[in-house]
Amino acid sequence: MSRQGARISLAPVILAVVFPAIVGAAIALAYYGYRYAVAASVRSKASLMEGNQQLGNLLTEQLQDRIDKADGELFDDIEWSDTASDPPAHVDLPDGVESVALLDEGLKIRSLYPTPDAAHRRREMDRWGSYVRGLDWKSLQPWTPDQQGNFRHLHQLFEGKSVLIAYAAKKTAEGRDYYIAAKLDLGLIAKDWIPDEMEVVTGKRRVAILDEVARPIYGEPQPRTPFQYEASFGKTLYAWRIQITPRNVAELRAQAETERILGMLLVPVSTVIIALGLGVVWLSVRAEQRASQMKSDFIANVSHELKTPLSLIRMFGELLATGKHKGEAMTREYGGIITRESERLAHLIDNVLDFARLERGKASYSFAEGRLEEVVDRALDVFRHRLEKEKLRLKTEIEPRLPVVRMDEDAMTLVLLNLVDNAVKYAGDGGEVQVRLRRAPGAVALAVTDHGGGIAPEEQQRIFERFYRATAARTRNVRGSGIGLALVKHIAEAHGGRVEVESALGRGSTFTVYLPVAPLVTPAPEEAAAL
Ligand SMILES: Nc1ncnc2c1ncn2[C@@H]1O[C@H](COP(=O)(O)OP(=O)(O)OP(=O)(O)O)[C@@H](O)[C@H]1O
Ligand SMILES: [Mg+2]
Repeated sequence: MSRQGARISLAPVILAVVFPAIVGAAIALAYYGYRYAVAASVRSKASLMEGNQQLGNLLTEQLQDRIDKADGELFDDIEWSDTASDPPAHVDLPDGVESVALLDEGLKIRSLYPTPDAAHRRREMDRWGSYVRGLDWKSLQPWTPDQQGNFRHLHQLFEGKSVLIAYAAKKTAEGRDYYIAAKLDLGLIAKDWIPDEMEVVTGKRRVAILDEVARPIYGEPQPRTPFQYEASFGKTLYAWRIQITPRNVAELRAQAETERILGMLLVPVSTVIIALGLGVVWLSVRAEQRASQMKSDFIANVSHELKTPLSLIRMFGELLATGKHKGEAMTREYGGIITRESERLAHLIDNVLDFARLERGKASYSFAEGRLEEVVDRALDVFRHRLEKEKLRLKTEIEPRLPVVRMDEDAMTLVLLNLVDNAVKYAGDGGEVQVRLRRAPGAVALAVTDHGGGIAPEEQQRIFERFYRATAARTRNVRGSGIGLALVKHIAEAHGGRVEVESALGRGSTFTVYLPVAPLVTPAPEEAAAL
């Protein structure tokens, strides 16, 4: 009893503490795993973008240095000693500078280098006029040998073309202001300088430089992706943009997509799997508990079942042996009791042995075609005597011309004996037990009906389990071991048939076994010819 108690109290503990703890831990694990994966992917994207940015800055700075160097060289070189006199006739333009304008104190263009020929002079002057008009001269400190680098840039579209102007202010020896504006050779910069700088870019990235209206200056513009870096192309060529795209975008995108799907599925899928696993564990724990409970009940029942008839046999045997009985009638009565009890013992032992054989899967049936009505007739002869004593009427109804079935006669006798034994045991006093044999679609149906206490609906399937005994039987103290119906079910199924129960509490029960009709054997052609 105490062992049983310990077993039962384990289940609520598992259910209340262990399972929720496992599910909780699994959910927490999945959640933090997902968070970690997301954070790692954010970090790797951030470091990729950081790398792109650093590369972009490096490229623009290098190009800017080169342009600044050309500008500085030019501003250093030009010297206009007296603005009252004519500007220098010739200026050497450094590499990268296309043309230069010199302006006096009043911001009037005084000279252009290289000097345009007469035919183009007017146009060149007009064009330069539009370049210098918007320049912010007043923000400039004068260029001196010790304060170099004080110059500015204008990068803008003029007549649909990108123009880069560098400009600086200088002073003559007498302290009069004059100004220099230089137009840089963007053609050369785009064709030579930029590709030079781009050589440092490793094979892993694609770089493109786009002008004011997104036309490519260098490289091929790539479609937008979350891994692309795009920014203004530095402080000098600020109207252009640099675009850096990793070459393995498809791979990165697939990786991000996998991470996203995994992240989305990880939590629910792992939770469902764990819950299913726990469900299976729970069911098997329950099944195991139920089986061991039933086995211990079975042992108790069988021992009880064995003891009662044995002690009766022994008592009446002793009475007969001592000769203390009186008369012939009493001898017969005692003998009857001994016979009945030993029959009961034999029935129990048969059931237990058959059942043990079935359990081990070694039951061997010997099937043969036969008539079920003959088996029923023979088996009922054995019972008729007992029924009369129990004051029960046995009514048989057998439909004529029933088809032949394939069966093991001994097994079918066992089926009928168990069903009638139950009907007698559970029918209470008096009443009637009916055995009917009729045709059913594709089968012959053997039904045993009683008008006893019936079986509660929730127990109707369980009574076919091994060792299960319904509550009513246990409380009314009817003897039994709970294997009769398990045997019936096993035998019915081994014949390709089934057993069904129809019952209502207080109104009796009907157990029906369906045996499939034997297939019609058509003789083989050679046999037919021999006939
Ligand atoms: N005709 C019936 N009326 C009411 N209850 C029944 C009937 N037949 C079976 N039962 C219930 O089903 C249970 C299982 O029946 P089963 O024949 O397997 O075992 P048993 O009769 O208790 O023992 P035994 O192994 O000796 O047959 C019974 O204990 C009883 O509670
Ligand atoms: Mg029984």
